[in-house]
Amino acid sequence: MGFDFPIEVICEGMANVIVPKLEAFRRGVWDYAPSKAPVFYNPLMRTCRDIAVLALQSYQRIVGRDLSIAEPLAGCGVRGIRFAIEVEGLGSIYLNDINEKAYAIIQHNIQLNDLTSRIFASNEDANLFLARYAAPKKRFDFIDIDPFGSPAPYMDSALRALRNGGLLALTATDMAPLCGVYPRVALRKYGGFSLRTEYCHEIAVRLLAGCLAMTAAKYNIGVKMVFSHSTDHYARLYALVNYGAKSADKSLEEMGYILHCFKCFHREAHREMILAHNMTCCECGSILKAAGPLWIGEIADKNFCTLMEENLKSLKYEHIGSEARRIVSLVKEEADAPATYYVIDKICDRIGVPTPPLKEVIDHIREMGFRAVRTHFHGRGIKTDAPASAVIKVVRELAGLK
Ligand SMILES: C[S@@+](CC[C@H](N)C(=O)[O-])C[C@H]1O[C@@H](n2cnc3c(N)ncnc32)[C@H](O)[C@@H]1O
Ligand SMILES: [Zn+2]
Repeated sequence: MGFDFPIEVICEGMANVIVPKLEAFRRGVWDYAPSKAPVFYNPLMRTCRDIAVLALQSYQRIVGRDLSIAEPLAGCGVRGIRFAIEVEGLGSIYLNDINEKAYAIIQHNIQLNDLTSRIFASNEDANLFLARYAAPKKRFDFIDIDPFGSPAPYMDSALRALRNGGLLALTATDMAPLCGVYPRVALRKYGGFSLRTEYCHEIAVRLLAGCLAMTAAKYNIGVKMVFSHSTDHYARLYALVNYGAKSADKSLEEMGYILHCFKCFHREAHREMILAHNMTCCECGSILKAAGPLWIGEIADKNFCTLMEENLKSLKYEHIGSEARRIVSLVKEEADAPATYYVIDKICDRIGVPTPPLKEVIDHIREMGFRAVRTHFHGRGIKTDAPASAVIKVVRELAGLK
């Protein structure tokens, strides 16, 4: 194999693939080697790919026939090759990347895994690639958009190349704009303001979902979010698309704003596109800050999560990592919980008390008659329908304060 840069064979999931030898591109302890290598491979995104395998298998079980799928920004091809090997019921798989060296590695990895009859590689711009599949009989059942930064530039063409009832997966790695560090950039890229709150990772997912809903509505397409997750490094969303003006209108009813009080932790979610609210906090009278417009509706579907969990029980998915298992279980638990979450450490910091065990806070909130669940978004986070004042009361009582 004639590559003019150091490579190595790695095993991820059930695939063996060649990737750039990342150590050769690291220039110091804190250097981020995947971005320096001539072809992209990030071992840290394995959990994201593990979850993608589970989501695609769950979707295939729902549809019940062979699926045609595409990854227009495929890097070294590890994701698509894992789909081919690990997901049952796939037909043709199309992997594309604009980078010539990535294309060469993809071709090599297809041969290495003996998949030349099922996987087709191409080397062009992702939007151009998707445009070739926009005609009704050519569209895909599943498209995975996994770019550097924002997926917004690819949303239109992905929606146009997706069949009615298809599944779209989107990754966003531009977390600084999405998490409120650059709210104006979020407005430009995603059509809504972000906000630097303790639950900014959820705002990131909701801005991404809102942008997708607005983009889809232009084509009379409605969207339903079936799974989503986020860490410090990325937000990831899985959405089913449904053709029809009514379906698009229904999606837009799920758009709105989240209002937040930075003084007393109060927050409100409003399902309306016009912000005709008096912007003061009903608890403490402070001025509320707004995030949005963004997606207020559900960002995961419990039934879809259950299917993903059932897949995990099969021997075939023994190799799926513990982090993916943990995320699927938590996302299922929080699927129908209210928008936003409280980070207990932040409340404790503010009132100057030691942090109580998360489980005790959850139990006490439940004893008061409210719902309370953990969240995958934050290890010390709680989703609850209790008002901020009740959460603070519980934390104070657990610290022995009145
Ligand atoms: C984050 S990497 C993809 C990683 C891959 N999906 C995985 O799971 O390992 C993004 C890829 O997009 C490619 N890319 C960037 N701009 C593109 C464009 N306009 N069209 C097609 N590919 C593009 C880059 O060459 C890079 O390989
Ligand atoms: Zn307030």
